[in-house]
Amino acid sequence: MEIFRSRQTLRNYIERQKEMGKKIGFAPTMGALHKGHLSLYEVARKENDLVISSIFVNPTQFNNQEDLEKYPRNVENDLKILNKSGWVDAVYVPEVTDIYPQGLESKSYDFQGLEEEMEGKSRPGHFDGVGTVVEELLRQVQPDNAYFGEKDYQQLAIIKKLVETLKLPIKIHGVAIYREESGLAMSSRNERLSSSQKDAAKIIHQTLLKVNDWFRVITIHEIEDRVKDIFENEKGMQLEYFEIAEEATLKKTDFFYKDRDYRAFIVVHVGDVRLIDNLHLD
Ligand code: PAF
Repeated sequence: MEIFRSRQTLRNYIERQKEMGKKIGFAPTMGALHKGHLSLYEVARKENDLVISSIFVNPTQFNNQEDLEKYPRNVENDLKILNKSGWVDAVYVPEVTDIYPQGLESKSYDFQGLEEEMEGKSRPGHFDGVGTVVEELLRQVQPDNAYFGEKDYQQLAIIKKLVETLKLPIKIHGVAIYREESGLAMSSRNERLSSSQKDAAKIIHQTLLKVNDWFRVITIHEIEDRVKDIFENEKGMQLEYFEIAEEATLKKTDFFYKDRDYRAFIVVHVGDVRLIDNLHLD
């Protein structure tokens, strides 16, 4: 596996691959790799000649300094994981100045309201930071296909909008959430849970499955009340938000239309760990 630590070395490599007509699949990450990331590479491997990943903890998408500092970093271990997987041909580990040559500032995007829903409410500026780094990485790597996990479903929708608005010739793919055996969505944050917290956190996915059973059987308000009740009775857990939104707009819905797709979104704090999950309702 090739490792590029600067924009220039990556550029030379990409030029060579493009000249050879290679189809490039790309999965960017912030490191702390786990099986969820590996599932992105596995899909990318099947659909491309070459798979590239990146490891870059993007400062502009963090809302506070403490969160940024606490973010787990272990690039050498990540490189070992990538190597061992056998799915990745090259990895880009840029310096901050390779991504932000003009200084650490986000661009300002109009994601047509997608950025104002859910995560956008509690994390102002977060999606501008994500947009800035993803645009830069996509311009440098020039992939044919790029892969993002559905766990961050709002991020995925925003990246699709970004690529559409900028008219980048890249297909964005969402990859299904990789779950632990208990159903808990795989996340680097799970490492911060004690084993009893981890066990208790399976209730998040179980609740989403119940919501799917209740979908179109009882009203949205009844579903919301039941979800609130579940978490009020869970010690050490706090429900930050639960919403059922239209998949196309991510707008919270008060009524289910027959011909529209809906998804349930949830954020729960388990101790001081913020866990996010979602489920398509059918
Ligand atoms: O989902 C992530 O890991 C990050 O938000 C991304 C897309 C790599 C941008 O920093």
